[in-house]
Amino acid sequence: MTVLPTALDTNSPEYAANRSTMVEKLAELETAHAQALAGGGEKYVTRHRKRGKLPARERIELLVDPDTPFLELSPLAAWGSDYAVGASLVTGIGVVEGVECLITANDPTVRGGASNPWTLKKALRANEIAFANRLPVISLVESGGADLPSQKEIFIPGGALFRDLTRLSAAGIPTVAVVFGNSTAGGAYVPGMSDHTVMIKEQSKVFLGGPPLVKMATGEESDDESLGGAEMHARTSGLADHFAVDEHDAIRQARRIVARLNWRKAQTDQGPAEPPKYDEEELLGIVPGDLKAPFDPREVIARLVDGSDFDTFKPLYGPSLVTGWARLHGYPVGILANAQGVLFSEESQKAAQFIQLANQRDIPLLFLHNTTGYMVGKEYEQGGIIKHGAMMINAVANSKVPHLSVLMGASYGAGHYGMCGRAYDPRFLFAWPSSKSAVMGPQQLAGVLSIVARASAAAKGQPYDDEADAGLRAMVEQQIEAESLPMFLSGRLYDDGVIDPRDTRTVLGMCLSAIHTAPVEGARGGFGVFRM
Ligand code: COA
Repeated sequence: MTVLPTALDTNSPEYAANRSTMVEKLAELETAHAQALAGGGEKYVTRHRKRGKLPARERIELLVDPDTPFLELSPLAAWGSDYAVGASLVTGIGVVEGVECLITANDPTVRGGASNPWTLKKALRANEIAFANRLPVISLVESGGADLPSQKEIFIPGGALFRDLTRLSAAGIPTVAVVFGNSTAGGAYVPGMSDHTVMIKEQSKVFLGGPPLVKMATGEESDDESLGGAEMHARTSGLADHFAVDEHDAIRQARRIVARLNWRKAQTDQGPAEPPKYDEEELLGIVPGDLKAPFDPREVIARLVDGSDFDTFKPLYGPSLVTGWARLHGYPVGILANAQGVLFSEESQKAAQFIQLANQRDIPLLFLHNTTGYMVGKEYEQGGIIKHGAMMINAVANSKVPHLSVLMGASYGAGHYGMCGRAYDPRFLFAWPSSKSAVMGPQQLAGVLSIVARASAAAKGQPYDDEADAGLRAMVEQQIEAESLPMFLSGRLYDDGVIDPRDTRTVLGMCLSAIHTAPVEGARGGFGVFRM
């Protein structure tokens, strides 16, 4: 065994300070999560219950197997926007009749469950996850369709929702729709494009146009039930495969559908999962509040992987990036973790080699971010930092094994790309409350702007106002700082959620399990040209 040692002193003032900063950030995170859980707020939730209906998360709770966890994704979607936190949609991975499924549920307490631009992004991300990992999709539908005032943002791209459902089906991935209420216009294509549909007596309403629209279009008088009720769709149109008498019955029937899917995971034998030797609780005290202070990512790895057992690859070469092999909840993983923040040529080349090795052996990769980017300066440019960084980015971009990314601290500049940032399609990406991500640090960015403005004034022969410059720098710094924070980025769907560091092992374990629903096959070649 190659058990990692620890040098973390849990009695030190640094540990206490790091921990207290993290605990403060976790409290802010909890407040934001509480907003998502509150949905449309007291008034609408009470009205919904009075109608004898279950809230979205209770529907999910009844759908998944008893005592199994639900990994909710993007709970902070729309944070910092004009729309409700959570974006009127709940998405996540849960186990139904022993099958890991991608579950989505409209939250009808938020503007009638209508979809705004963030809802669309969240739903499309859920579909991506289902596709990449071959997870059956269960849609719990009750929505007013497009959020009409924002229709210009969602109508045209929104067609992808229905395209995805049929492409999932074409790829042999099962899709199930359970309609709890309104599913009008475009929304009607959710049951329309799903492999299996369940509708509920006197509750489901599935029509292209409701009675007022029909009256306007053709003059025909109609009512909800005859146009799109469950009874009609089950007996007459054939759109409903299953007729349920109430919500509980509908959920029971959805579970029976999944039980009969004959769905098998590509890999089930993940091996024994020994817990780490060190307490996960200590993950709260590792990352400093000031990200300029370095920390040893091996302290994190030691609290994430099975038995804290880690075989380092090339420890003496490019030591600012830790690379090595471990198991996590029994699944093999290759880990790349930033140590000193900066990526030099050696680190980049080491990463490119390590990623190729993982692809040869079909081993998923875990990227633990704390990087300020690739090294700049004459010496490094002359030493080929661009071509070496490009090698790493080439390897990450063309690697075919599943990638998981966790933003622990800084994730700046091209370092974010090389470490498999969002644009490099990691299967899952989570952020710790301590993380920050931007093109560069706020001070550096404000400084660069100031230097450029000064040079521009000099070129025009104009005087430079130093006082205004200081004010502008402070303002820019503040703005960039706010835009680098994980809740802001999560609101924009740039991650799959902000998580408590103590939950990292559990979250990654659930992701790895979901990932192994599809075969894990690395690239044997197929990389771009590596410039040597
Ligand atoms: N866009 C924007 N806001 C919407 C909306 C939509 N598509 N659907 C509902 N809302 C708003 C309502 O204006 C209301 O806001 P308010 O409480 O501030 O007045 C809130 O959401 C709740 O709607 P309400 O009608 O009170 O809820 P309900 O549960 O009784 O009915 C619907 C829900 C979805 C059946 C009903 O609102 C409806 O028919 N909406 C329009 C559906 C439609 O035709 N959509 C176009 C599809 S492309």
